[in-house]
Amino acid sequence: MKKVVWTQTWVAALALTVSGSVLAAGDVNAGKARAAVCGACHGMNGEGNPAFPDPMNPGKTKAVPSLAGQNSGYMAKQLQDFKSGARKDVLMTGQALGLSDADIANLAAYYPTVAGKAATSVDADLAAKGKSLYQGGDMARGITACMACHGPDAAGNDLAKWPALSGQLNDYTVAQLNAFRSGARENDPNKMMREVASRLTDDDVAAITVYLQSVSGVAAKAVPAPVAVAAPVAAAPAPAPAVATAPAASGGAADGAALFQASCFACHGPAAPALNAPQSGMKANWEPRLQKTGGLDGLVASSIAGVAGTAMAPRGGSSLSDAEMKAAIGYMLSQSGL
Ligand code: HEC
Ligand code: HEC
Ligand code: HEC
Repeated sequence: MKKVVWTQTWVAALALTVSGSVLAAGDVNAGKARAAVCGACHGMNGEGNPAFPDPMNPGKTKAVPSLAGQNSGYMAKQLQDFKSGARKDVLMTGQALGLSDADIANLAAYYPTVAGKAATSVDADLAAKGKSLYQGGDMARGITACMACHGPDAAGNDLAKWPALSGQLNDYTVAQLNAFRSGARENDPNKMMREVASRLTDDDVAAITVYLQSVSGVAAKAVPAPVAVAAPVAAAPAPAPAVATAPAASGGAADGAALFQASCFACHGPAAPALNAPQSGMKANWEPRLQKTGGLDGLVASSIAGVAGTAMAPRGGSSLSDAEMKAAIGYMLSQSGL
């Protein structure tokens, strides 16, 4: 649990949001020009290469990922991680070392504007098993639904820096899941992916990745406008007014239980203690947080902002309105006897 006082967290998050957004406001055209060298491995349109000669295994190949339509925030993080050594790859590390912060911002602005691979037809039975795991997880085995973080259409979450998975080359996705399973890839914050992946079997990986090939590919995103995203945050002096001035939610009598089931259950439900999210029904998990944030409205504000460095993205990665967030949290508190 975070011991930081809420106001300090907010100020730090505010500073990060503002400076982060300015840096992230890359130039799409400059990125496109810089991407020419990336094309040698990632394809001239960022489509990836399923069979690139593997320098570590002569005579064998490895998949170079598609970058087309990937989220900007995630891409920038990966490039910084390759540069710092937090993520390692014999082909990619050297490439990232030559990139300036401006290059990274420009490349991360360009690739999301390129359309990704379209959906392909797959083995329906295997895909159905994968879909069930992707959307619902497996409570008994403690597997959190992939959808909770990667979104219902596997488009990821740009603000949270969580990757899009749809439109990716199958062999690459399999390789990354196995790398998280073995711990060879360890640049996921709070072991978010290693926790989930460690519970997957080879059969699960096969089913989920086949399912992912069947969901629609990543559409090209409009040229991003990160400054516009930062503006309302920068203008808000404190979380309370930010909530108060946000547009009124539709459906005032929001059904907290249904909202909780749809958007929060994967992490706040009883089956996902590994994520360290306060669990619905556990009074002891919620009481200190209520005190720390000063009550329900404080919890609403902190959940809208997200808890930096944890799996709690802004609004839990959902697109719920302020009033709907309040209803969902109210439901969790009532379930916890509060
Ligand atoms: C020599 C081949 C090569 C070149 C050139 C190259 N890459 Fe890569 N890149 C790779 C490989 C291989 C991986 C996958 C690494 C792994 O398996 O973990 C990768 C991974 C990535 C990733 C992570 C993708 C994800 O979904 O996590 C990003 C982002 C990326 N490259 C961007 C770039 C950019 C931008 C350039 C040009 C400046 C570039 N790469 C040039 C080989 C290359
Ligand atoms: C708690 C949130 C969370 C859950 C649940 C989750 N993921 Fe992830 N996943 C992430 C994050 C965060 C990353 C990126 C880590 C980083 O910064 O490098 C990621 C990365 C990945 C990647 C690598 C993508 C790439 O381009 O390299 C794959 C593949 C993946 N996840 C698949 C899955 C699957 C399949 C499931 C369900 C079994 C799942 N994830 C569940 C948060 C999550
Ligand atoms: C991907 C997992 C995930 C999802 C989905 C998620 N949460 Fe969370 N949430 C967390 C984690 C982890 C924490 C604990 C963060 C920390 O360490 O303080 C948390 C904390 C919170 C808190 C306490 C914040 C504080 O300041 O103490 C609230 C309130 C909350 N979540 C509400 C929600 C609501 C409402 C939803 C659904 C709309 C939701 N969450 C969806 C993972 C998630």
